[in-house]
Amino acid sequence: MSASLESTRSESVRQAFLDFFAEKQHEIVRSASLVPHDDPTLMFTNAGMNQFKDVFLATGSRPYLRAADTQKCLRVSGKHNDLEEVGVDTYHHTLFEMLGNWSFGDYFKREAIAWAWELLVDRWGLDPQRLYVTVHEGDEALGLEPDDEAANLWRTETTVPHDHILYADSKDNFWSMGDTGPCGPCSEIHVDLRSDEERAQVPGKQLVNADDPRVIEIWNLVFIQYNALGDGRLEPLAAQHVDTGMGFERIVAVLQGSSSTYDTDLFAPIFARLAELSPRGDVKGYDDLHINDEAERERVRIAMRVVADHIRAVSFAIADGAMPSNEGRGYVIRRILRRAVRYGYQSLGFTEPFLYELFEPLRDKMAGSFPELDEQAGLIVRVIKAEEEGFLRTLETGLKLFDEQVAQAGSDTLSGDAAFLLHDTYGFPVDLTELMAREQGLSVDKDRYDELMQEQKDRARAATAFKSGQNVAGEDTANQLSDTEFVGYEHVQDTGAKIIDARAIEPASEGEPFTYQLVLDRT
Ligand code: SER
Repeated sequence: MSASLESTRSESVRQAFLDFFAEKQHEIVRSASLVPHDDPTLMFTNAGMNQFKDVFLATGSRPYLRAADTQKCLRVSGKHNDLEEVGVDTYHHTLFEMLGNWSFGDYFKREAIAWAWELLVDRWGLDPQRLYVTVHEGDEALGLEPDDEAANLWRTETTVPHDHILYADSKDNFWSMGDTGPCGPCSEIHVDLRSDEERAQVPGKQLVNADDPRVIEIWNLVFIQYNALGDGRLEPLAAQHVDTGMGFERIVAVLQGSSSTYDTDLFAPIFARLAELSPRGDVKGYDDLHINDEAERERVRIAMRVVADHIRAVSFAIADGAMPSNEGRGYVIRRILRRAVRYGYQSLGFTEPFLYELFEPLRDKMAGSFPELDEQAGLIVRVIKAEEEGFLRTLETGLKLFDEQVAQAGSDTLSGDAAFLLHDTYGFPVDLTELMAREQGLSVDKDRYDELMQEQKDRARAATAFKSGQNVAGEDTANQLSDTEFVGYEHVQDTGAKIIDARAIEPASEGEPFTYQLVLDRT
């Protein structure tokens, strides 16, 4: 590999970012866990700033005023959810790394803007003619003026062509972590990756924020100044902060001369293994498909992207203690995993577990930066394989049922009863059924599905043999529950726990199995 290629390898880019901000006196910190502790507003870490929320809100502090890191982010729930775009386009991910730098009441817009430019243009050599920057145009409803200050700084502190400075509305240029919490106007940097001819025909400014895969956002500089109260009101914070986030996979793609994040060294080893494993003889590699039909080729590529993305999300989530399960956070992970299994089965020819075998190339590539992949390797592989085996048992029958229901669907709607049956008996998360229905041009009767889900919940509640907080003997156990010690922060495997309580739940209908709940003294 030549020196210049070497410097655009993902490992080098990640390190160059951290080194740059270390030079600017930033403390380099570790990525926080994907599972946020102590933040009930958040299911998964969705931005680099999450771990500093308390600093912005002045309820906590750090022994430094500047920080930088690469943060694992998962955008699959809540305000920031990219799941539906993943695989279909070439630049969205469920799990991605966000390179970030922060100022806690220290530097503000001027430095944030000047340094972002210095890194992209002076160090990494991006062409200013291909860069566009956006600033907040103001928002009457929020009582905010246009961010002329940021626009002026782009003019005075950087070499961006002045007509590449664009004003945009709150949808694109006001960032908040969720309905509540730290927020502020932002300034984004977009890059135009089209050819010179294409750029001469249509100016890049027309394609900024227009969902064009060749003109994409790479870096968001947020000027955190408010706490959103959840009712539309913004409360000014005691100090002004900076929170930036650069899409790591995107900048790697740009530096490697591609507009697709999947065409980078980050994904190449996963694709290589996937092609090797695929029982389809015509799938030799992501860029080596021996398939004549254009639509079929795209179908296979989408599946490969989904699978490569999802193995990362699932592996990192398990490494951080989010186990696939039937509810909450665990169900999000199960849904992602099942989505990948379905794509693998229908488009790549897999009838046996295969996802777990993609963990090894992922680990080789990323454990250097994220040692948790090494530490939890055995667990990750075991859990993924068991999940795959479980879902593959019902997948085929479920797909047959789905096809029958599609054939029967008189209108453009798949019945809620079918979606419920697929969920309840065949383990198809409803968003998977919706995705499959969309592929056939159908929607799902979600109201009827929700109604059936509610009925099932009510039945299960009524059929619970023992009241919550009581044991088999009807004794109060509420206090005992708090006697359980949680050891999962230190390690994810343990032995020798004692059962301190047990509870049996009757099946909702005859013939189905009982469910048993065990309470352990240590979990
Ligand atoms: N918090 C901002 C974002 O997620 C910048 O890091 O885009």
